[in-house]
Amino acid sequence: MLDLLIKNGKVVFQDCMKKVDIGIENGKIVSLGEHMDVPSIKVENAEGHFVLPGVIDVHTHIDHWGGTAKTEDDFYTGSKAAAYGGTTTFIDFAIQQKGENVKTAIQRRIEQISPYSVIDYSLHAHVIDSTDETITLIPEIIQDGIGSFKMFTTYKAAGFKIEDPDILKLLTVISDNGGFTMVHAENDSFCEELTSRLLENNNATVKNYSGSRPNIAEVECISRLLLYAKQTNSKLYIVHVTTAEGVDLIRQAKKEGLEVIAETCLHYLFLDESSYQREDGYKFIMAPPLRTQKDIEALWNGLLDGTLSIVSSDHCDYSTDKKITAKVDFTKISPGLHGIEWLFPFLYELAVNRRNIPVTKVMEWLSKNPAKIFGIDHRKGKIEIGMDADFILFDPSAQKILTDDNHHMSSDFCPYAGEQVTGKIQKVFSRGHLIVSDDSFFGEKGKGNFLKTRF
Ligand code: URP
Ligand code: ZN
Ligand code: ZN
Repeated sequence: MLDLLIKNGKVVFQDCMKKVDIGIENGKIVSLGEHMDVPSIKVENAEGHFVLPGVIDVHTHIDHWGGTAKTEDDFYTGSKAAAYGGTTTFIDFAIQQKGENVKTAIQRRIEQISPYSVIDYSLHAHVIDSTDETITLIPEIIQDGIGSFKMFTTYKAAGFKIEDPDILKLLTVISDNGGFTMVHAENDSFCEELTSRLLENNNATVKNYSGSRPNIAEVECISRLLLYAKQTNSKLYIVHVTTAEGVDLIRQAKKEGLEVIAETCLHYLFLDESSYQREDGYKFIMAPPLRTQKDIEALWNGLLDGTLSIVSSDHCDYSTDKKITAKVDFTKISPGLHGIEWLFPFLYELAVNRRNIPVTKVMEWLSKNPAKIFGIDHRKGKIEIGMDADFILFDPSAQKILTDDNHHMSSDFCPYAGEQVTGKIQKVFSRGHLIVSDDSFFGEKGKGNFLKTRF
C-alpha cells in the first residue's frame, strides 16, 4: 500500500516531460509508471498540472542581522514563505562571530533553525577569519557534513573582509579537504572609497547607489579570485554574479578547465539600475547593485550556455521602514532584497513564458544543479525512484498579478509589483506530506530536517 499516488500529472524529469504516475512511501518516491493502479492511502489527481521537483534555494539570509537591522522573518515565517513558492529545501549561512569557533557558529545556527523550519535545510559555514583554529576545524566541518565555506572580499569596516593572503590559505585548505569556497566578489577599495567620496559630498543618496559599487568592482574581484583558484588548484563558487564582464571571465576560466561554479539571483535577471531613480528606489538597495539591460542579457546567456549554474534568491527580507532612510543616505541601511517565495514562480514566468526557455532548463538551475553542486543529490533535486518526495504541482495556465501583499514573506512590498505571471503553484509536498494547497498551509514547525552535504 502506497502512502500517496500522484496520478495524471506531466512530470518534469531532468531532460524531458512525460505523463507519469508517482508512488510514494515513507516520504520517498518508490515507483514511477504510466496508468499505475496501486492501492494508496491518498490519491492526488494532477491532471492538467506539471509535477516538478521541489526547488532548492542555495542562498538565503533568513533571520539575519544585516548591520543596521534584523530581517523581518524568522525560520518559521521564512521557511513557510519558501514553501508557498515551491521551495522545499534552503541553504542558509552559519555566520562566525568575531573570535568564535566556526563549529559553535554552526551549532548555534542549527539550534536556531531546527525548531522552526517547515522544510529541509542545510548550511554554508560563513568564515570571517583564517586563524589556526578556523583552519584546523575545516576538515572536521567538511567531514561532519558542511562542505561549502562562504567569505566576503568586502565589508572591511564591518569586520567581514577576508584579506587576499587569507583567501589563498582558505581556498587551499577547503579544497584539499573536498569542500569549496563561496565568495561574495566585490573589490573593497572601489566600494569603500567611492562610497566615502559620495558621503563627503552629502551625495550618498539612493540615486547614486549603483555608481558606488560599479561593474569594475565585481569584475576585478572575480578576475583576482579566478587567479587564486588557478594558483591553488581549488574549487571556487562565486555567489550573485551580476555583470556581463564577470560572466565572460567565468566562461573563459571554465574553458581553461578551472573548477569554478557561478550563481546569479532572480532580481538580477529582471530589474535594472533604473530602479534607483524611482521614487521608491531605496527598496532596491542590495550588494552588488542592479546593473544594466546589457548585463541582464549576459546573465541569461550565461545561464543558457552553462557558465552560470544556479539561480538563487539571496533572500533578505526587509520592509519599507527599514529601507527608507536610504533615500538620503544608503550607508544607513542593511542591503538585501527578499524573494524566497518568488524564486520559482517568477523565474518560470521570465524564462518559460517570456523567453521560451524549456521548463526542464529552469529546473536545472533551481533543483538539479543545486542538489548536485551542494552534495544533496542522493536525496533531492530530481524526480527518480529513491529520491525524497518533494514536489510542486503547478497549473501552467492560471494567471496572477504580483502585488505588494499577495505573498507570504514578512516584507510589505514586492519589487515586481504589477507584473503578470502565468502559472500558479497549486500544491507543494515535502517528503510526501502536503504542506501547501492553494492558499492554505499544512506544514508543521520543526518538521524540516538538517541535510548533510555529501561530495
Ligand atoms: O545585499 C545583499 N546581497 N545582502 C545579503 C548579504 C549578501 O551580501 O549576500
Ligand atoms: Zn553577498
Ligand atoms: Zn547573500
